[in-house]
Amino acid sequence: MLEKSLIKYVFNDKVRNTEYKKANIDFISDEEIKKAKSFHESFSEYSVTPLHKLDNLAKILGVKNIFLKDESYRFGLNAFKVLGGSYAIGKYLSEKLRIDISEVSFDYLRSKEVKEKLGDITFVTATDGNHGRGVAWAANQLGQKSVVYMPKGSSKIRLENIKKEGAEASITEKNYDETVRFSNEMAEKHGWVVVQDTAWEGYEDIPTWIMQGYGTLVHEAMEQLAEYGIGKPTHVFVQAGVGSFAGTVQGYLASKFGVERPVTVVVEPDLAPCIYESAKLGERYIVTGDMHTIMAGLACGEPNTISWEVLKDYSDAYFSCPDYVSARGMRLLASPLKGDPQIISGESGAIGAGVISLIMEKGCYKELREKLGLNENSKILIISTEGDTDPKKYRDIVWDGDYSSI
Ligand SMILES: Cc1ncc(COP(=O)(O)O)c(C=O)c1O
Repeated sequence: MLEKSLIKYVFNDKVRNTEYKKANIDFISDEEIKKAKSFHESFSEYSVTPLHKLDNLAKILGVKNIFLKDESYRFGLNAFKVLGGSYAIGKYLSEKLRIDISEVSFDYLRSKEVKEKLGDITFVTATDGNHGRGVAWAANQLGQKSVVYMPKGSSKIRLENIKKEGAEASITEKNYDETVRFSNEMAEKHGWVVVQDTAWEGYEDIPTWIMQGYGTLVHEAMEQLAEYGIGKPTHVFVQAGVGSFAGTVQGYLASKFGVERPVTVVVEPDLAPCIYESAKLGERYIVTGDMHTIMAGLACGEPNTISWEVLKDYSDAYFSCPDYVSARGMRLLASPLKGDPQIISGESGAIGAGVISLIMEKGCYKELREKLGLNENSKILIISTEGDTDPKKYRDIVWDGDYSSI
């Protein structure tokens, strides 16, 4: 097979310089994340999602360990996103009730007493699928309404799954970032509450809470690694759309481990590389257009202003990857080596697995793996952030070989 280096990358030269003043990450500290985790633990649907150890894959790729956190098991919603939307809604309601979130359980928030106190609230959001499904689920659980707008070209199955959670949902004629603006305009017009998973100037509270909500999964992962006798991974690969999720993982690790933190790489589709382009430029950069990547959850052009600051100051490298990288990840997780567990990972979930498989295996990435210090001692953590959220597309890729490797 032709070997062609198509993963593009840029390294952060300042990242390990301790003299350089970095962004404040207190909002994503262990203490803050524990509050989000306790809130999630109060849900009857809560259980820790699996952390798989892929020993045979690690062996064949020449690294010590590969751990994969499988978020397809999150609250039966097939993706991690509900962690953010539910915590943000919980924080919003607890502030309205003037009670600290640590005093509030999910059951209390869904009680008749709370509903009577707060009355009807409509939450609105823009989404490619997973975030909207999480917001719709949380609003529904709390007896409140939700309105969800999706960008043009969004998957019909994802739309239907959002509607099933009781939301008024529709697909617009706009791209993702325009849909975010549209949802804002509608909120202003109707007095709805915007629960958006990205921040911009003047809109920072809810996105901060969403990021804190995502923290539950990285906190769980650290506890699960400790059960395997691993204090911390040496390398973490995190996928990014607007970068909220990556910012959470990165900020948490930097806050917990300081200069001893793992080497962290932000991974994006090359059709929506807003963090990669920002890193190259050294300042927040907006990618425009339709962004027709198979990684729908990562098809975002405008970095979250809060997480960009975190990723700019603490991440070691930024990758921009063609779609076939994620397709390869989906296939290798779906048909594992004998002895490794099978993992159903969707387009936005499998990019980490695809990336490490290619850079460890292909000669053209020798320099890259050396620069990252990836070798037989490496203990890698990746997160499959979604399962087969579009089952037809999943089968086209895994069964029929769409987006085959180059
Ligand atoms: C499955 C999945 N993974 C990763 C992400 C990326 O998260 P963020 O937009 O916070 O970068 C998303 C976003 O929707 C997603 O749906």
